Amino acid sequence: MLLEVGNASYRHNGGGGVGPLSFALAAGEACLLLGPSGSGKSTLIQLIAGLLTPQAGTILVDGTPMHALAPAARDDLRRRTIAIVFQSLRLVSALSVHANLALARKLAGLPADPARIATLLDRLAIAPLAGRLPRELSQGEAQRAALARALVTEPRLLLADEPTSALDDRAAAAAATLLLDSARAAGAALLVVTHDSRLRPRFPRAILLGADGRIAGARA
Ligand SMILES: Nc1ncnc2c1ncn2[C@@H]1O[C@H](COP(=O)(O)OP(=O)(O)OP(=O)(O)O)[C@@H](O)[C@H]1O
Ligand SMILES: [Mg+2]
Repeated sequence: MLLEVGNASYRHNGGGGVGPLSFALAAGEACLLLGPSGSGKSTLIQLIAGLLTPQAGTILVDGTPMHALAPAARDDLRRRTIAIVFQSLRLVSALSVHANLALARKLAGLPADPARIATLLDRLAIAPLAGRLPRELSQGEAQRAALARALVTEPRLLLADEPTSALDDRAAAAAATLLLDSARAAGAALLVVTHDSRLRPRFPRAILLGADGRIAGARA
C-alpha cells in the first residue's frame, strides 16, 4: 500500500479537525474524499504529507510513518514521493508558470524536461500563459497551473485539495480526467479531497466525510 491511514485523528486548538478515520490506497488507485466545508479535508492532506502529526493513530506513506522520521528524512520522503495541489495553490509569485514547473522538477531531484512541461500546460489549456506570473492568471488558470506543477514532479502519491473549486464544468471535467489519466499511467496513487460533487461520478472510489470529520460512507 502506498498510503495507509489507520485510525488517525487530529484536533486543532478550538476543536475542529479530522478523524478518527481509516482507509488505504494502493499504487495506481484513485480515490475521492468528499466532505463539506470544515469536515477536515485540508487537515487530512497536511497529516498525510507529514506537515502535521496525527495525535492518535498512524499514517504510513509507502510503509513508513512520516511522523516518526527526523525532519530531514521526512522532507526527503515527501520530496521523493508526494506532490500536493494545495487549496491555496502556493505558486511561487516571482516566477512564471513555466518556471514554477521547472523549479518543482528541480526540487524533486528530476532532470529538466521542457517537453513534458509543454505537454502538461497544453493538456490543461494554459500553454499560452506559460510566461505569465501567477498574479497575471485568473483563479481557474492558477488552479490549473498548480495542478500541472504537481503532475510534472511524477509523484507516486498525488494529493489534491479542492483542485476544481474555481473551474467551470468543462475545465473541471478536463482536470479530473488529466489527474486520473496521469496517475493511472504513472501507477501513482491519487487522493482528491473536495466538496465538489461534480467529481463523484468520475472516480472509481469515493469516501464520504461527515461534518464531524469521520467517515460517513463509502462507495467502492
Ligand atoms: N490552524 C487551525 N487552527 C484552528 N482550527 C483550525 C485550523 N485549521 C483548521 N481548523 C478547523 O478544523 C476544522 C477542519 O478544517 P479544514 O480546513 O481541514 O476543513 P476543510 O474540510 O478543508 O474545509 P474547506 O472545504 O472549507 O476547505 C474546521 O473546523 C476548522 O475551523
Ligand atoms: Mg480545505
